[in-house]
Parts: sequence; C-alpha cells; structure tokens
Amino acid sequence: MISLQHITKTYAVGGGLTVLDDVCLEIGQGEYLGIVGPSGSGKSTMLHIMGLLDRPTSGQLSFNDRPVHALDDRELSTLRGRLVGFVFQSFHLVPQLSVSENVELPLFYQGVPRRERRERAARALAEVGMSARRRHVPSQLSGGERQRTAIARALVTEPALILADEPTGNLDSRTGGDIVALLEKLHGEGRTIVMITHDREIASHLPRVVHIRDGKLEES
Ligand SMILES: Nc1ncnc2c1ncn2[C@@H]1O[C@H](COP(=O)(O)OP(=O)(O)OP(=O)(O)O)[C@@H](O)[C@H]1O
Ligand SMILES: [Mg+2]
Repeated sequence: MISLQHITKTYAVGGGLTVLDDVCLEIGQGEYLGIVGPSGSGKSTMLHIMGLLDRPTSGQLSFNDRPVHALDDRELSTLRGRLVGFVFQSFHLVPQLSVSENVELPLFYQGVPRRERRERAARALAEVGMSARRRHVPSQLSGGERQRTAIARALVTEPALILADEPTGNLDSRTGGDIVALLEKLHGEGRTIVMITHDREIASHLPRVVHIRDGKLEES
C-alpha cells in the first residue's frame, strides 16, 4: 500500500546532517508495523515523510503504486487529509473545543456538513469508548482519555493509514497498555497502523518491527 524507495533526508545544518540514508520499506494493507530506534535516529522524520507532512531530500514515496513526489503542497495536503490519520505523544487537541468538536475538526476542513460531522464523530468516539465524555473539554480528561480522543480524531476521516508517534509516551504503563490494546483492536478490524515506540515490551508484541540506526533501516 505504501512504498518508500531509497528515501534520504538531509538537513542543511553544520555541514549537512543525513537523518535517513537510503531507506527502503514496503507496508501492506492491514499491516501493523512498529518503528524503534534511539532518540534522534530519524523515527519521527520517517513517519512525517510517510504521512506527507514532510518531503524527502531524495527517493520516492508511493501510495498504492502512485508516486507522490510530483504533487505540489496543496495536492499533498488534500491527499494527506484523505489518506492519513496522525496520533501524537502529546495529543495535540484544541483546548477550547469539546471532545466531539475536536474529533469533528478534520471533517470540518474537508467541508463535510455539520450533521454528518456529528454522526461520524459520534461513531468514532463510540469506537474508542469515549461517548460518555463527548461534551468535556481536553483539560477535563485523563491522559488516556485525551489519547482516545486523538485516536477518534485520527479515525474519523476513515484514513487508509494511521500513524502514531509514541502514542503511549505521556501515559503511565497501565493507561499506555489500554491505548496499545485499542490500537490492536483497530488493527484487528483491518486498519493499517505504523507506530513509533520506545517501549521494548510493546514492540515485542507487534507483528513486525523495523529498527532505525544511523539513518539505516534494519528489519527484525
Ligand atoms: N528541521 C530540522 N532541522 C535540522 N535538524 C533536524 C530537523 N528536524 C529534525 N532534525 C534532526 O534530525 C534527527 C532525527 O530527528 P527525529 O525527530 O526524526 O528523531 P526521533 O528518532 O524521532 O527521536 P526521538 O525518539 O527523540 O523522538 C535529530 O538529530 C534532529 O536533531
Ligand atoms: Mg520522535
């Protein structure tokens, strides 16, 4: 479904910093892939490139055999909105909006009418077990509930791919375990998920894991 071919990412700092060095990776429909590696090894950079938030310096990225490198920023951002749902370590919820409004937001940007937004947000919130909290604002939620809300927001557009960058990084181990179980359930329902994790225990339960070290990818 998604293919990274000879992806390189270089930053023009201090004589040039190569973060990703000739990375090749294929991810099939319905896969659940873990990315592990030391801090600063390029995990987030790779996830951002996969999720069309960032462009590689060289190499090719394709979705369903369609190369995306020739698209301009506008086209990329439309494609990103349709294809990708992001989940971040620090949730990235809008503090002034209710749980339901946060989940509706991506649909708002897609121009989906209000009524349909409500219905789809309600479905996504039910899927993550957050229906009872839909009128709360983020400050009234526990960490795990915030992350569930963020996952509902990632699901609401029915993206082909869910990308999670350390989704348990700000949670205690039990709450983190609940979030991992939720992602496992979503994978069981056929969703394609890529998750960065520092947690060896979590990584050991994933069906497939790649390691990044010095910009190179190793599969285990
Ligand atoms: N915009 C940028 N300009 C220059 N260097 C950058 C930029 N963004 C990231 N880097 C560098 O690229 C390297 C990889 O960063 P990245 O965020 O991908 O690491 P990571 O593996 O996700 O680390 P962590 O586990 O700490 O989140 C780091 O050394 C970082 O300093
Ligand atoms: Mg990172």
